[in-house]
Amino acid sequence: MTTTQEIIASHEQHMIVNLPRYPIAVVRGQGSLLLDAEGKEYVDLFAGFGAPILGHCHPDLVAAVTEQAKKLWHVGNLLHTEPQTLAAQAITRHGFGGRVFFCHSGADANEAAIKLTRLYGKAHPGKTDPAQGGRYKVISATRSFHGRSFATMGATGQPAVREGFAPLLPGYVNVEYNSLPAIQAELDDLAVAVIVEPIQGEGGVILPDDSYLPALRKLCDQHDLLLIFDEVWTGCGRTGRYFGHQHWPVTPDIMTLGKGVGGGLPVGAMVAGPRAAEYFDYRTANLVKHATTLGNNCLSMAVTAAIFQVIERDNLLQKARDLGTHALGRLQALAAQNPAVKSVRGKGLFLGIELNPDAPNAPFKAAGDVVQKCLDRGLLINAAQKVVLRLAPALTITQKELDRGLDILEAVLRG
Ligand SMILES: Cc1ncc(COP(=O)(O)O)c(C=O)c1O
Repeated sequence: MTTTQEIIASHEQHMIVNLPRYPIAVVRGQGSLLLDAEGKEYVDLFAGFGAPILGHCHPDLVAAVTEQAKKLWHVGNLLHTEPQTLAAQAITRHGFGGRVFFCHSGADANEAAIKLTRLYGKAHPGKTDPAQGGRYKVISATRSFHGRSFATMGATGQPAVREGFAPLLPGYVNVEYNSLPAIQAELDDLAVAVIVEPIQGEGGVILPDDSYLPALRKLCDQHDLLLIFDEVWTGCGRTGRYFGHQHWPVTPDIMTLGKGVGGGLPVGAMVAGPRAAEYFDYRTANLVKHATTLGNNCLSMAVTAAIFQVIERDNLLQKARDLGTHALGRLQALAAQNPAVKSVRGKGLFLGIELNPDAPNAPFKAAGDVVQKCLDRGLLINAAQKVVLRLAPALTITQKELDRGLDILEAVLRG
């Protein structure tokens, strides 16, 4: 059996070391438990950055992908296959309708959405010259994350993501999240779309005021802007609804999915309502405007369709809400007694714990220190924005597993 040290040594010799990793090599996963190369067990309360939304190696997903693997993997996109239509049906049935374009990642889905806004802006140029590209400005939020590709870097409201990559694509502006006036101030002849996360993920699990998204919808209607909800984090049941925006009475023009929609396989999806979808329709455009070779491969699509079946069959939305309420209750009780915990927040199984490392006797300096101590004790969680801990367990986690993880976290936070 290869040891952790050997795996890490090989990684450092053969791979581009593009980000820091913990010195842990995971070899197996089942549900919400992980096993490293030396047999140490971890409770996983941050399931694969949100991707294995049904946990590791869910038996129904294993069955779906195995069965499909014996039938057909990929035929290219000039032929029809059924798995992609089943996956698309599930997404549109549980979402706001629309039509789906499948790709490989969250960034890829947002890339498609931004390309679509360019076509829309040209077809609806307002006072601008369509020959010059029509309207193309995309408004997004500071602390947002929409990806690291060239089109999405500008939308991502974190300057560090863009550092070193100039010249960037023009036509982006990042404004304060949860502020309508901040968006209004950017409405000019060039503005064509607003992209926001219904709950900011990488920004530190930031929830909007209840009025924000509905008011944004109204503003977009008044100014003929496309409203894009980036549901890469909040989609597929994570927050206790199929899609995060469904907590509010609001419908986007475009919704993007990644992470959970593939259950751990590389799937991205862009869903567009009738106002926008036609601009990618080759029959309208008389030209192929966007496509990708592997975006609808049968293996991934069989898994995506199965994910929605399992969520519905096992009532996992209710479970996410119940377990989320349970976890929030425990964390709120902890925060009430512990000045080093500033606040806790979240919806469903998407939870943030904001720390106050400056509190007297705080047993840590940053969220990263807490994550490390949790790992030492067999718990995997995540740190965002230096002072926020994030929990995003699989929707299939049992209350016992969740409590086992929260017991460790509480012990660490108490010092
Ligand atoms: C809200 C959001 N959108 C898009 C992305 C990019 O997704 P991917 O890493 O799959 O490209 C992320 C990644 O964390 C994200 O959180």
